[in-house]
Amino acid sequence: MADHKVICWDCGAEVDDPYVNTCPKCNGLLTVKMDLEPVKEMRPQDLRKEKIGVWRYAPFMPVDPSHKVSIQEGGTPLYRTDGLAKEVGVSEVHVKFEGLNPTGSFKDRGMTIGVSHAKELGAKVVGCASTGNTSASLAAYAAKANIKCAVFLPSGKVAAGKLAQALFYGAKVLSVDGNFDDALNLALKMADEKKIYLLNSINPYRPEGQKSVLFEIMDQLNYDVPDRIILPVGNAANIWAVYKAIQELKEVGWIDKVPMLTGIQAEGSAPVAKAFSAGKKDFIPENKPETIATAIRIGNPISGRKALHAIYDTGGFSTTVTDEEIITAQRLLGRMEGVCVEPASAASVAGLRKLLSEGVIDRSERVVCICTGNGLKDPDIIMENSPSPVPCKNSVEDVERILGS
Ligand code: F0G
Repeated sequence: MADHKVICWDCGAEVDDPYVNTCPKCNGLLTVKMDLEPVKEMRPQDLRKEKIGVWRYAPFMPVDPSHKVSIQEGGTPLYRTDGLAKEVGVSEVHVKFEGLNPTGSFKDRGMTIGVSHAKELGAKVVGCASTGNTSASLAAYAAKANIKCAVFLPSGKVAAGKLAQALFYGAKVLSVDGNFDDALNLALKMADEKKIYLLNSINPYRPEGQKSVLFEIMDQLNYDVPDRIILPVGNAANIWAVYKAIQELKEVGWIDKVPMLTGIQAEGSAPVAKAFSAGKKDFIPENKPETIATAIRIGNPISGRKALHAIYDTGGFSTTVTDEEIITAQRLLGRMEGVCVEPASAASVAGLRKLLSEGVIDRSERVVCICTGNGLKDPDIIMENSPSPVPCKNSVEDVERILGS
């Protein structure tokens, strides 16, 4: 474990109570400051002795591997998707497919670190609010760590696969009357009373694990830094985690170029993208966020200010895509590349298409799209947007009739 401290991102105050989620002095957002001096003596190759995955990057992580709670997260493929690149008209696209993590989303990266830290602290009950993936992931890691788990879900708005996972791994599943933002407020109240150890991404240890997606992308590209990384934005911690990882690689001297971070939101749920187009550093919360991409159906993104900083500081961009553009991109990934992602994840590819057509992204760029979750999490959306199975008699003639038509 690297030495580290938790500090306030806004006022810089050091915070040592692991149960507080905002700065006791100014109510600002917290972050982890890593001591990377030892890593400056190392080279990327030194880490390659460890299997690719979150724990390969342990020198960048604030948790001692002796407390490791792991189900082999990370190490997801980075596909070079030439068919997709040709279709959208850009020189090079890679898709980092996070749907192949143990519970089917990038959340496992943050959870292995978050739950390992919870174990280190001796937490008795862990909890989170979630649009689905965070709860599925926390439920699995809590099961592995043998810690009690409660998840707060917006009633009726969680994709079937994700709900099934949380139930299956044995979490106490609370179906909260309200949207994600309401569920998070309730979870925060429980955390303030120290009734649960909160593992939403407001907990600064979660983004630390999520940094590993960027470390892997660089490893897989042999540190040939891409021009741009595009990812969906919901509660806005993942884009911040990717940014933090970039800053740390710069600090240790492993990269000198910075990819432009590009955050995509759904049109009906877009506080960050709207703030970006208005040139603002802060966002205005939305009361009634709506999109078929339920994973990013969030009106009051807790790390929204950090996300905006990440986008501005890397010369990146933020925009919205419609539900229709999301579905088109989702199908494109399936039909051209054999990759099945959930709607929120397809937002990155939808954003790429849109920004190419608007000339914001140059056609000569090398781009990485992070596809955050597995399409099987939300089969209802796929069924709604696919042709129905064809009724077929148990006869060769009938098969020929159908295939011939
Ligand atoms: N993609 C997927 C598949 C997600 O589940 C989420 C967030 C995001 C993108 C956005 O990431 O919040 O860091 O900006 N899902 C959370 C959850 C909110 O509860 O599962 P973010």
